[in-house]
Amino acid sequence: MMRPLYLLTLLVLFLPLVVSLSREYGVWRPITNTSNPYVIEIAKFAISHNNKRNNKSLVFQSVDGGDIHRSDKLDAYYKLTIVAKDEALPSRPAGKYVAGVWDQSIQLVRKLYYFRKSQN
Ligand SMILES: *[C@@H]1O[C@H](CO)[C@@H](O)[C@H](O)[C@H]1NC(C)=O
Ligand SMILES: *[C@@H]1O[C@H](CO)[C@@H](O)[C@H](O)[C@H]1NC(C)=O
Repeated sequence: MMRPLYLLTLLVLFLPLVVSLSREYGVWRPITNTSNPYVIEIAKFAISHNNKRNNKSLVFQSVDGGDIHRSDKLDAYYKLTIVAKDEALPSRPAGKYVAGVWDQSIQLVRKLYYFRKSQN
C-alpha cells in the first residue's frame, strides 16, 4: 500500500505536467500568428481542395484568423477564416471564407470538413 506522503509527492511532481498537457491539448486555442507558414499551408490546402471539389477558382490571399484544437502532438483540427479572391468573378473584391481542416502531420493526412462563405 502506498503511503499518503508518497502519493502527495507524486501528485506534486506530476500535477504541473498534467496541467501543462491539458492546457495544450483538448482545447480550442486561437491562432496567434496568421503568417505562420504551416497555417498558410493548411489554408491553401482548404482552397485547392474546395476548388477541385466544387469547380471553383479561388485564390488564397491571407489567413484572417482561426482556432486550433490539438488532440495530441500531431493531430489537430483547424478552423480558419481565409481571405480569397474569386478569379471567376474578377470584378468582385476578395471575400472571407471559413474552413474546417483536420491535419495529422505524421501521416500527412489532411481532410477538408467544410468550406463556405463567411457570414460576417
Ligand atoms: C509570424 O510568423 C512569421 C513567419 O514565420 C514571422 O516572420 C513573424 O515574425 C511572426 N510574427 C510574430 C509576431 O511572431
Ligand atoms: C467550371 O467553372 C468554369 C467557370 O468558373 C466553367 O466555365 C466550367 O464550365 C465549369 N466546369 C464544370 C465541369 O462545371
